[in-house]
Amino acid sequence: MRFKEQIDVTRLPEHIAIIMDGNGRWAKNQGKFRHFGHESGVLSVKDIVEGCADIGIKHLTVYAFSTENWNRPIEEVNALMELLISTINQETATLTKNNIRLNAIGDIASLPQKCIEDLKSAMDKTAGNTRCTLTLALSYSAKWELIEAAKKLAQLVKDQSLRIDEINEENFAAQLTTLNIPDPELMIRTSGEHRISNFLLWQMAYTELYFTDTLWPDFRREDLFEAIVDYQKRERRFGKISEQLN
Ligand code: IPE
Ligand code: IPE
Ligand code: MG
Repeated sequence: MRFKEQIDVTRLPEHIAIIMDGNGRWAKNQGKFRHFGHESGVLSVKDIVEGCADIGIKHLTVYAFSTENWNRPIEEVNALMELLISTINQETATLTKNNIRLNAIGDIASLPQKCIEDLKSAMDKTAGNTRCTLTLALSYSAKWELIEAAKKLAQLVKDQSLRIDEINEENFAAQLTTLNIPDPELMIRTSGEHRISNFLLWQMAYTELYFTDTLWPDFRREDLFEAIVDYQKRERRFGKISEQLN
């Protein structure tokens, strides 16, 4: 039986986060330049977004470029930014056709101007779409996000809008870039690396982690459905014991 048919649609994760890793190794395995891997990775993003929308996942967040990725060779950084711009412009119509909203988190102001403009335009065009929200994490890192949140909270205290003893999980989370998005129930990382790489540290406090050796350009919706089936076999106890769960 295909994995899709094994999914219990009444217990879908509302939000899936993905660390799309392995583009460079995928290209190298074929004797090609790293950039070829990134271009091929876009096809995986398209298939996974459509796979998510197809089965009813409301939020998909993909790690597309980390704060640390700015330290890659300048040629690769430039190629990734150009790929980002061309992909956004090519895919906006499809996102609209599929009723998918585009969102972005991260230090967007640090991106090239053209990228900021085209991203904003695509986000505006898809703002009314309701089937699924695709969030791109761009120039994102969790430590950056948490420091920004700390600054915003400090400002609220300074302005006397908030007392220090009133700081709690709720108003802390409201300062994060993910404020209107539920925490991911499932996080998938491709390419066999078993690490978080500065992704959604606050939001993944209780997320189920799924690691696969498949390289991102080879990852397709059937692989996503396999991860969801695996997730649905797990018991999420949130600190309780098994007997306390219904
Ligand atoms: C993920 O693939 C894409 C980005 C980080 C932008 P990599 O480029 O990290 O590929 P590997 O890990 O070197 O194979
Ligand atoms: C994580 O991948 C960031 C993205 C997928 C955008 P990396 O390939 O940059 O991660 P590390 O540095 O190997 O952990
Ligand atoms: Mg990598």
